[in-house]
Amino acid sequence: MIENNTDAHILVSMTYASRANSDVSANDFNEILQQAQRNNAANGITGMLIFNKDYFLQTIEGPRAQINRLLYSLIADQRHHDLQLIETRELKHRLWAKWSMNYASPTEENAAIYLKYSTTVSFNPYLLNAESANDLMRELSEV
Ligand SMILES: Cc1cc2nc3c(=O)[nH]c(=O)nc-3n(C[C@H](O)[C@H](O)[C@H](O)COP(=O)(O)O)c2cc1C
Repeated sequence: MIENNTDAHILVSMTYASRANSDVSANDFNEILQQAQRNNAANGITGMLIFNKDYFLQTIEGPRAQINRLLYSLIADQRHHDLQLIETRELKHRLWAKWSMNYASPTEENAAIYLKYSTTVSFNPYLLNAESANDLMRELSEV
């Protein structure tokens, strides 16, 4: 029997919300995005990142070991805090296969979509269940 010690065939998806540190600007967001796209392309990770005022909402998907490694980096990253997992699951197929990291920030065009998923005056991803978080990201990616 051939032994195979790599778990690269096990794909997982992780979605979390976090709060941006108060000094994170649109410029910082662009830097985070570029860093994510560069690293993810090398690590077989794909996903979607939302930045809306104080909050991040992100899905990362890829080989289980890589996703776990990235989780440690994310928790240690000083540009945000209060990382809260919304969903982790195994995947048969990637949902974001085309993007090393797709993204959305608030624009006039997608304002109605954020509003649809807001139960409070302003958008708050900590209040989303997994299904709504996925639906929101999918709708934003279609704008
Ligand atoms: C909201 C947020 C999302 C991030 N997403 C990713 C990501 O998808 N992939 C990634 O490699 N780094 C991401 N980072 C950066 C990591 O926390 C960490 O800084 C980076 O992976 C370290 O990369 P380096 O080894 O190139 O310095 C993100 C950071 C923040 C604050």
